[in-house]
Amino acid sequence: MEQVIAQPAVASEYLWWQHGIIYQIYPRSFQDADGDGIGDLKGVISRLDYLQSLGIDCVWLSPVYPSPMADFGYDISDYEGIHPIFGTMEDFDELLTEVHARGMKLLLDLVPNHTSDQHPWFLESRSSRDNAKRDWYIWHDGKPDGSLPNNWLSVFGGHAWEWDEKTGQYYYHAFLKEQPDLNWRNPEVQQAMLDVMRFWLDKGIDGFRVDVMWHMIKDKQLRDNPPAPESPYNAGDLIYDHYIPVYSTDQPEVHDIVRMMRSLVDEYNERVLIGEIYLPIHKLVTYYGQDNKGAHLPFNFQLLTLPWEAPQIAAAIDEYEGALPENGWPNWVLGNHDKPRIASRVGLAQARVAALMLLTLRGTPTIYYGEEIGMRDVAIPMNEVVDPQGLNMPELNVSRDPARTPMQWSGEINAGFSAHKPWLRLPYNSGRVNVEAQLKDPYSMLSFYKKLIGIRKSQPALNVGSYQPVFADQQLVSYVREYGNDRFLIILNLSHRPAYFRPKGRNFEGTIILGTEYERTGMQVGDIITVGGDEGLLIRLT
Ligand code: NOJ
Ligand code: MG
Repeated sequence: MEQVIAQPAVASEYLWWQHGIIYQIYPRSFQDADGDGIGDLKGVISRLDYLQSLGIDCVWLSPVYPSPMADFGYDISDYEGIHPIFGTMEDFDELLTEVHARGMKLLLDLVPNHTSDQHPWFLESRSSRDNAKRDWYIWHDGKPDGSLPNNWLSVFGGHAWEWDEKTGQYYYHAFLKEQPDLNWRNPEVQQAMLDVMRFWLDKGIDGFRVDVMWHMIKDKQLRDNPPAPESPYNAGDLIYDHYIPVYSTDQPEVHDIVRMMRSLVDEYNERVLIGEIYLPIHKLVTYYGQDNKGAHLPFNFQLLTLPWEAPQIAAAIDEYEGALPENGWPNWVLGNHDKPRIASRVGLAQARVAALMLLTLRGTPTIYYGEEIGMRDVAIPMNEVVDPQGLNMPELNVSRDPARTPMQWSGEINAGFSAHKPWLRLPYNSGRVNVEAQLKDPYSMLSFYKKLIGIRKSQPALNVGSYQPVFADQQLVSYVREYGNDRFLIILNLSHRPAYFRPKGRNFEGTIILGTEYERTGMQVGDIITVGGDEGLLIRLT
């Protein structure tokens, strides 16, 4: 393969979170060091050398705070502590030091929309109607006939209102009833959460991924959500998608909150604010905020939610590029702990094509742990399901457990994840599909990721260069990345059949520097380029 390390890797005017690569760790499943079958911070520390050699720049940890674990850590009972399952604050400090010692960054998950129902704030709030923290949550009377305050549903199924016998009111929970929503219209709540952010920023973390950012403020009048027009379900099912959450999410005032968080983050040097937001592109980009004073990176989940079809994907890339505000920095994601893994959605061969897309599009990529070895969703027998989303709606097959299984490190017992039976089972083939085996195999997914990341890091055109669409049809997506005199053409065949790349009236000539099939590496191409089924090509243009 052509050696491509000839120039400074990064254009210096860009920040680390613009040219860098983020890697999401689901802490329960990365590495167990203390032998209880659940991943922990010491386990993560022991795998930092691996992450460094993979070439990623930043680790985002899903929540490690004290929590009753009703939603596996997204129900927090203390925002300034570490759950003993994961270790101690000393372990956290060591992790931060070790991450930084390797020149990497560390992001924490912040869950400001709701707390655990065991958080002292909620315990106080529910203790009486005149408690000082009553208004920290969203309490409401039922309608005069005794029915619920409105028709809002919980994302996890059922009504979003829970009756509190003692104080005779309902409280609102967008997720589990064990996750009451905070009232972000209350300035004391705002202050309390900003204090939490300050606590971690003062420790030296490099930023936050903010959970369900678009949920944080709800309609003041608590009006009913309208039914969704084309629901495939019967409206009596109490399934979230039956209604359009126009009043329970994405309210105009949320942008004031995001701006507040951003101002705080901006008091520190080069920290980043990422927002988890599932919205259509034109709403999503409003989260960059006025004058780009909102989230640095509103997560872009197009590649996670759209059908894997070339016309849709090509259009979405351009719609996104076109909708970005000036100086709004793009980002891309293939998977996370809430959605089926990319290899399970599109298959292993296409997962390579997807990797080539993720790591050559313009914008910050986030890799979900295990993607780099082509981990697939693991089939979890019904009686082993632990995810509340799966347990609450068993008929819908929406458990998130399959995408949260332990990292497959080696052929050792429990794939080297733990000496103990893991909290979620491994796939039957983990003896074959693991990091250790793939490191030895030059054709493995891991070897492909490593090469690709290496090239991306060494080429400003790929990490910060401009993007221009070139050609798309029923099978192909293609685009050019450019910086200075360097130009790269990326051609991705999203179908299984061979295809022809023939953009009208244009001719591209160059050398393949990486293909999903290595045999093509080094070949010259030009004119009509043939592309194999499930093939992706990275071409340096001459
Ligand atoms: C989004 C998180 O990613 C998901 O895992 C969690 O269940 C909900 N927010 C509720 O916090
Ligand atoms: Mg453990």
